[in-house]
Amino acid sequence: MFDLIVRQATIVGKQSPQDIACQAGKIVAVSSHVEGEALREIDAAGRLVTPPFVDSHFHLDATLSLIGQSRRNESGTLLEGIAIWGDLKPLQTFDLVKARALKLLNWSIAQGTLAIRTHVDICDPKLTAVEALLEVREQMRPYVDLQLVAFPQDGYLRDPDAVRSLTRALDMGVDVVGGIPHFERTMAAGGESVRFLCELAAERGLMIDMHCDESDDPHSRHIETLTAETVRLGMQGRVTGSHLTSMHSMDNYYVSKLLPLMAEAELHVVCNPLVSKVLQGRHDNYPKRRGLTRVKELLEEGINVALGHDDILDPWYPLGSHDMLEVAHMGVHALHMSGVQEMESLFNAVTYNAAKVMGLAGYGLEPGCRADMVVLQAADRIEALRLKSARLQVIRGGCVIAETPAVKSTVCLDGTAVEVDFTC
Ligand code: FE2
Repeated sequence: MFDLIVRQATIVGKQSPQDIACQAGKIVAVSSHVEGEALREIDAAGRLVTPPFVDSHFHLDATLSLIGQSRRNESGTLLEGIAIWGDLKPLQTFDLVKARALKLLNWSIAQGTLAIRTHVDICDPKLTAVEALLEVREQMRPYVDLQLVAFPQDGYLRDPDAVRSLTRALDMGVDVVGGIPHFERTMAAGGESVRFLCELAAERGLMIDMHCDESDDPHSRHIETLTAETVRLGMQGRVTGSHLTSMHSMDNYYVSKLLPLMAEAELHVVCNPLVSKVLQGRHDNYPKRRGLTRVKELLEEGINVALGHDDILDPWYPLGSHDMLEVAHMGVHALHMSGVQEMESLFNAVTYNAAKVMGLAGYGLEPGCRADMVVLQAADRIEALRLKSARLQVIRGGCVIAETPAVKSTVCLDGTAVEVDFTC
């Protein structure tokens, strides 16, 4: 007797629908027909079944902080967002941060987003958000993989307490070393912060994920230093550059030199299309730059690229429900990636590629993988993107932890009712 069998699942890479059998939290069989019974069976009826969505770039400490606030980011810039957060930060309490994070994670689970790398601002001498999110990480461990990044929001060298606070946060159990070189006082200080932080991560055997070059300034080239430090310290495959929006505006010759160096360093890249579309290009008149990193070119170079949500209802982004299909849908438009394989690669950017950024073990739909998956109301990845399809069942460790009814409408014309569900 299995714990669960999902029958007739469309799986990317398989020619025909498959049955997926789960036992003791693992996938134990995948074949065109699995003999036997299970405590629960789900008939996917040819619908797409995917490993869970993964958000490899989020800010769980600030999320939902807009609720009840009258002050909004009227300029839509990164800098006004940082200023508002600076005012809100002293008002945060352990209970507030925890309650908002737990509320958001319920949304994430309902959307099938079961792994999240969240940056947590360590520029607070009390480290209130660090304490709260460490507790949330443990409390939610049965349902969501949370990875915390020590993020010096006000600058590792610019904030007088950040060096000490970041080390304390790592000592408390934060998983990954963060950074924000473009927010340091000078380009030189930005480079210095990258070197310090990379050495700190190397000493402790931790991964690195830096907010890097998040501007339209073509001269913001901290990614070059991050890439060089990755190779110097032998940290290939363990370092992520988040945002990299300045690459959009860089000189093409310079980028042609940079891309192979990034590939050599096995860097991961996270692009955040929803939020970068809002924050970047704000200093332009016309034409206004798209302000996203060069995802197509990075992928062509063999570099692992994921898409992240970044923010939801916080000083940087006023919308969102943690739907990673919405993120990829924006990517199709903003990145000019509407070809069939391009759209499929953007679906992968919120699943497999993002899991690679986080270094998730046992991710996938092969026997031996963790029994985590989502049944979508869609036939394939492109239909899922087009409809931002309902997550009919969200499965964690072989148990259904969220369900959403299939979306359908009834159209009534001349007294005749017709049911439509927008699938082809
Ligand atoms: Fe971010």
